[in-house]
Amino acid sequence: MREFPNRKGVMLIGGMPATKMAERFGTPVMVTDENALRENYRAVWKAFNDHFPTRVNYACKANTNLSILRVLEQEGTFIDAVSIGEVESCLRAGFVPERILYTGVAVSDAEMLALVKANVPINVDSVPQLRRLAKMDPKHPISLRVNPDVGSGHSAKVVTGAKGAKFGIPKDEIISAYREALDLGFSPRGLHAHTGSGGSDPQVFGRVTEVLVEMFERVRSELGLKLEFLDIGGGLGIPYRPEEHPTDLNAVAAEVADRLKGSSVRTLVIEPGRYIVADTTVLLTTVQDIKRTPVKDYALVDAGFNTLIRPAFYDSYHHVAVANKFDRPAESKYDVAGPICESGDYLAKERMLPKVEAGDLLCIYDVGAYGFTMSSNYNTRPRCAEVLMKGGKAALIRERETVADMFRHQKVPARLRK
Ligand code: LLP
Repeated sequence: MREFPNRKGVMLIGGMPATKMAERFGTPVMVTDENALRENYRAVWKAFNDHFPTRVNYACKANTNLSILRVLEQEGTFIDAVSIGEVESCLRAGFVPERILYTGVAVSDAEMLALVKANVPINVDSVPQLRRLAKMDPKHPISLRVNPDVGSGHSAKVVTGAKGAKFGIPKDEIISAYREALDLGFSPRGLHAHTGSGGSDPQVFGRVTEVLVEMFERVRSELGLKLEFLDIGGGLGIPYRPEEHPTDLNAVAAEVADRLKGSSVRTLVIEPGRYIVADTTVLLTTVQDIKRTPVKDYALVDAGFNTLIRPAFYDSYHHVAVANKFDRPAESKYDVAGPICESGDYLAKERMLPKVEAGDLLCIYDVGAYGFTMSSNYNTRPRCAEVLMKGGKAALIRERETVADMFRHQKVPARLRK
């Protein structure tokens, strides 16, 4: 969790009072600090490159705002993309195709063809997918994704590397998959796995590296194929709770490098999403009403799981502060809930906060990863605005949607029109 300065009881975000942002842009709004973004990218790049030559493929599923992609393009990142929409976002943000690696599951022929046409390397998820790709272009740059039988993650919903998961080629079939790729005419360049999301245990990153190194060497010795890179996926966690410690990047990198020692791997690839963007962004939301029930008190705000679904979907913790009472002591307990018509709609439960009143501004921390990208129009609510802070100056990087936007793609048959 990042620390925010306090100016006369008001939280400062990227050098600007949160209350001023809310007045200027309305709420709910997500505010990103550009310096924090650059710092995070540099920290992860340096920690790994201090130990081993490492390419950082930012997993843009975490946040695909074009301005955020622009910042990271300037920083020199490569990209992990999972859909044609993500690929197009990155191309639009100035990434050349060679800086993108597409890793998709359940990929349609149309999507695969678009990737072939755009010259974007494909990390193939299965042998049937490989065969379909061979019919389009057997010379296309590829790597293979294996299921490493090593799973991790903050919730069962985000574990991807465990046996039986829908991702990757089963471990025991990986050598024959490379053989088939060669027979089909491909020159595979890499080997990839992703264990899951939100871990901080260096041992897990070490274990998956060990599994991958063994396969990497077998591909070389049994098939005579020298792969260019070994990609251990993403998954670096961050501390969402005040009492949690930051992930020790140096320890993770050292553990991974240790397993690469003596191998023929020359380039390591990592795919962090959350670590780079999560703590760069907060959500500002206004208290509409306080509701006291016989059981608990609610601070009812203008953002619900349509805006931030992580608490409702994963039971995730996001820290909450009262941005306009930033210097006041916590004295009352609240559930923070939004406008969605489901009792599962909440942002935070049982939080001790200063006494909250209607009109107060709440700040929800660490929403930069899987915040906006997982937001929706449920209950036909327009999605929120996004702002980028740099040097105390705010730039609107996504306009708030309007109710009129909700009708843009709908068609009513003539027989039903009024
Ligand atoms: N690489 C691959 C192949 C992935 O599937 C993912 C995440 C990443 C990299 C990046 O993982 P990260 O470094 O961000 O942990 N919506 C969930 C997270 C889902 C992650 C899915 N895959 C959440 O809000 O926690």
